[in-house]
Amino acid sequence: MCGIVGMVGREDVVPYLMEGLKRLEYRGYDSAGVAVPGPEELQSRRAVGRLAALEQKLLSSPLSATCGIGHTRWATHGEPSERNSHPHMDAAKNLAVVHNGIIENYLELKDTLIEAGVGFLSDTDTEVLTHHIARKTADGDFLDGFRAALGDARGAYALGVIHRGEPGVVYAARLGSPLIVGRGPAGLFIASDVPAILPHVDQVIYLKDGELARLSETGIEVFSLDGTPQSAEWVKVDLEDHAADAAGFETFMLKEIHEQPRVIRGLLEKYVPGGKEIHLPDLSMSDEVLRGIERIMIVSCGTAYYAAMYGRLLIEKFTGIPVETDLGSEFRYRDPKIAKNTLVIAVSQSGETADTLASIKMARGAGCPVLSICNVAGSSLVRESDHIIYTRAGPEIGVASTKAFTAQLTAFALFTLHAGKVRGELRAAENAVLLRELQDIPNGIHYVLGREDEIREVAGKHHEGPSALYLGRRFNYPMALEGALKNKEISYQHAEGYAAGEMKHGPIALINEYLPVICICTETEDEVAEKMISNMREVDARGGRIIAIATQGDTRVDGLAEDVIHVPRARECFSPLINVVALQLLAYYAAQARGTDIDKPRNLAKSVTVE
Ligand code: AGP
Repeated sequence: MCGIVGMVGREDVVPYLMEGLKRLEYRGYDSAGVAVPGPEELQSRRAVGRLAALEQKLLSSPLSATCGIGHTRWATHGEPSERNSHPHMDAAKNLAVVHNGIIENYLELKDTLIEAGVGFLSDTDTEVLTHHIARKTADGDFLDGFRAALGDARGAYALGVIHRGEPGVVYAARLGSPLIVGRGPAGLFIASDVPAILPHVDQVIYLKDGELARLSETGIEVFSLDGTPQSAEWVKVDLEDHAADAAGFETFMLKEIHEQPRVIRGLLEKYVPGGKEIHLPDLSMSDEVLRGIERIMIVSCGTAYYAAMYGRLLIEKFTGIPVETDLGSEFRYRDPKIAKNTLVIAVSQSGETADTLASIKMARGAGCPVLSICNVAGSSLVRESDHIIYTRAGPEIGVASTKAFTAQLTAFALFTLHAGKVRGELRAAENAVLLRELQDIPNGIHYVLGREDEIREVAGKHHEGPSALYLGRRFNYPMALEGALKNKEISYQHAEGYAAGEMKHGPIALINEYLPVICICTETEDEVAEKMISNMREVDARGGRIIAIATQGDTRVDGLAEDVIHVPRARECFSPLINVVALQLLAYYAAQARGTDIDKPRNLAKSVTVE
């Protein structure tokens, strides 16, 4: 996923473009560039690597203009390099383009261009689109030519375009990749998301798929692809600026780990006003519809998939509805047996993940109602959904998801208690007890955050090995998977999450004194609790090194685990919201010890808007 930004102002826009790119770097950061109109042809500066490289280039060779576009790249076509970085220009430097997305028929367009004698400098689909737009707009009205060029393109794009013929104008277009238009005292903006231009706008337009915009000193015009003017739907920006600053923490991820008690408390205050009744305003699902649901299919990717696995256990336990889960990248290519009696739930922090979006479009095609649990208002997923539960975690800048994840778990808990009550599966008294215990979860997380130094010490002992194994059962099995993913994606130490009961079916062969085995064993009530301890004994008997996430006062792990991270007692079905915070901190301090870039891990992007 890439980040694009553009501006039309009354003063030099380059500092604004660079600030926007800095705020967008979490979306992709293997190269960056800006382009502005010049005295003759357009001018650009591009650099491979982090934004600092582009800043250096601009220091030695400045640009200045009252209109321009910028881009920070996560490579899809062509390796990270200056020649593959955006903005791309046509040979005459009459046109510059920045792009987020994939043009699926770029080779077909490229063949036509090569036959016409066009030469290429890069391996990118974006350069192909740039030359195609240049040819279509060479004569006649630019907007007509731009629309025609886009009509030939298949795939996904969020585009920023400037051209020599209109030096004070920025064009934008959106299909399948997010793009907003903003306005504020300094001028008019385009950006991939709101945080990029947060300090400079007070209102934004979330461009719809198939819409184009023209920004000029006379204002903003929005069109559909057939050229019909569209009314601009302005939305007030209510994100507080602090969300885009690390607020004194060493990284955004650490800040966001520590924000979790506040985020969950905020969700509970918003959706349980007065602390007694659950009210999900954007769910827009009548009790009758809720009672009529016969099946649920939850689809998502990555960390959000582990939230789906958790949601399935919760929903089946308290509502009586059978639930399946699937990865977006699998669901969309199989033949799922879904129909209008199946509620399809999508879980996504960004609301822009291509595989999840494609799955939802499939579900809608099958006539299924779609509920999205999402963190971004106005996102593509929200636009595709009939029912919504916003996770209201605020902008999550760290590429590795933390607060959005526990907010997703909380959203599932609230949906489940609501549905269980409406469907008569949960008596009012039981519902009240569960709700009270859920409301105590932020305190449990606070306790874990208070043990940060102890967790950092444990991480310091176990981060050097080639791998780590995470084990959990039932509600904590998804947390074992999530803990392993966190470790992989920010510390680069291989890790594998496994159902503890599966250990004896193979992974037990891995056990030796170099393999840290993180065991989530906070269950204390029933047979699963005993089974988990037995699994730990199996590991211990083979010389494995156990790190236990255990309930305060539980002495069963003493003598079994080399290190114990104690967490407050909680009902098993809510314990994941607390346990996962210990795993987030374990991964965080393993990454710190290994010196990785925690907020922007290599090769990753915050939202994978391409396949
Ligand atoms: C999160 O830590 C990961 N970086 C990634 O797996 C993410 O959860 C996944 O790409 C889904 O993103 P979404 O929630 O925005 O759909």
